[in-house]
Amino acid sequence: MTALDLSSPVAVVGTGTMGQGIAQVALVAGHPVRLYDAVPGRARDAADAIGARLDRLVEKDRLTAADRDAARARLTPAGSLAELADCALVVEAVLERLDVKQELFRELEDIVSEDCLLATNTSSLSVTAIGGALRHPGRFVGLHFFNPAPLLPLVEVVSGFATDVTSATRAYETARAWGKTPVACADTPGFIVNRIARPFYAEAFAVYESQGADPATIDAVLRECGGFRMGAFELTDLIGQDVNESVTHSVWQSFFQDVRFAPSLAQRRLVESGRLGRKSGQGWYDYRDGAERPEPHTAEKRPAPAYVVAEGDLGPAGELLAMAREAGVQVREEDEDNGTRLVLPSGGELVLADGQTSVEFRDVVYFDLALDYRRATRIALSACQDTSPQVLAEAIGFFQALGKDVSVIGDVPGMIVARTVARIVDLAHDAVAKGVATEEDIDTAMRLGVNYPLGPFEWSRRVGATRVHDLLEELNLRDPSGRYAPSLALYRHAHAADPREGTP
Ligand SMILES: NC(=O)c1ccc[n+]([C@@H]2O[C@H](COP(=O)([O-])OP(=O)(O)OC[C@H]3O[C@@H](n4cnc5c(N)ncnc54)[C@H](O)[C@@H]3O)[C@@H](O)[C@H]2O)c1
Repeated sequence: MTALDLSSPVAVVGTGTMGQGIAQVALVAGHPVRLYDAVPGRARDAADAIGARLDRLVEKDRLTAADRDAARARLTPAGSLAELADCALVVEAVLERLDVKQELFRELEDIVSEDCLLATNTSSLSVTAIGGALRHPGRFVGLHFFNPAPLLPLVEVVSGFATDVTSATRAYETARAWGKTPVACADTPGFIVNRIARPFYAEAFAVYESQGADPATIDAVLRECGGFRMGAFELTDLIGQDVNESVTHSVWQSFFQDVRFAPSLAQRRLVESGRLGRKSGQGWYDYRDGAERPEPHTAEKRPAPAYVVAEGDLGPAGELLAMAREAGVQVREEDEDNGTRLVLPSGGELVLADGQTSVEFRDVVYFDLALDYRRATRIALSACQDTSPQVLAEAIGFFQALGKDVSVIGDVPGMIVARTVARIVDLAHDAVAKGVATEEDIDTAMRLGVNYPLGPFEWSRRVGATRVHDLLEELNLRDPSGRYAPSLALYRHAHAADPREGTP
């Protein structure tokens, strides 16, 4: 099955933000494109707006004037759905309401030919439910573009329960021919990206709710230690708290209120108070004129310890030993079967976040998982009230000697990055086991759809599935709600001998 022929007309119904973007993509790829919107005049306005965007591409030398003129000539606003009769593909980007979409496709089915591919750009409704309104749901597929569609490469190609393989393949190949990076996925709540990304927000909010750290510190740790492009608080302020919460809510409801997808009370209060993020002037942060951005917590300078004793295999944090030596901190390595840690001169211990808390091991200071300990500019440490000040000072001094800013957070099991990554990895393993998508497509989707520095499976291999599983088990002991219960898929993976594990 191949992509649609470029001579085949493509229709876009609903010419708002997404419709315009998708139309531009199909147009620039070379198709004749028809635009239709329920509000009279909107399709014409959309055609003008797309034309203006093509002009800017010409100014930036990304499109020739001749190609722009040819594209404009292929773009036509339609006055009625009947004018879409000869289209080979209709992409719908109307209001996010099941009844509205079903009604539209029912009407369209009476107009277009039987081999016309029908696609929805829904981000949260069930593709199966929309297609349920059709007489021939086999030709119905989800084509989930990301905003802004002309710039973002990812397209989730969603197969509903009744979607024919040939339709899904044709949609997939067409998206690829349009220069996009399609990933194939089954019709599940949130598809790939919005399903697997939920813990990125939820865990940050949970750390905040438990008074573990403030938003500025959590964001800084996610960015500077976890390697994420933005922290969860600043990102949701950009997306809009109402929009982000409604996606969470919809995924949670669609999973029959599965606790792993539960919304956050703190975010609920923010939305209720009208602090929707940048667009309303205030969200987690204040964007009004003159408002100052709060600084992350950063510990004051402490002396470096003269030496550390490394016991056991530090796994993904192993690079710290070489870095310590380079920084002039002596490192003695001792084989130890009984745990892995860096022992400080005071007798205190530095342990990679493993889901336990300092209250259980008073002089253990946990440090967070980093994407890359060399490149990280900040490390979070957690200790409890009873941890001796000397131990904490040595722990801070150790990471400062390695050139890191240090943020001391509360005694939060699994800290910030480690628990977030662990839950994302777990949901990804669970999704593969449930037939949602392949490992490769999930990694691609998370890197392109939400800019993660690594796909969940790349992360799983780097950290080691066993370590991820064990961390979640520890969290699950301390919060037995089920939120952290490792999936059977991760359990299987952790217990299978995997020679790739623990290697970068
Ligand atoms: N905005 C995003 O970031 C984003 C990303 C991915 C997917 N989506 C999905 O894309 C769809 C459109 O979102 P949007 O942000 O472009 O919305 P939008 O409000 O910008 O545009 C929707 C357009 O659809 C028109 N419309 C409404 N009902 C119609 C009907 N029955 N027939 C024809 N036109 C109709 C409206 O007049 C409007 O012009 C939604 O399903 C949304 O969930 C949005």
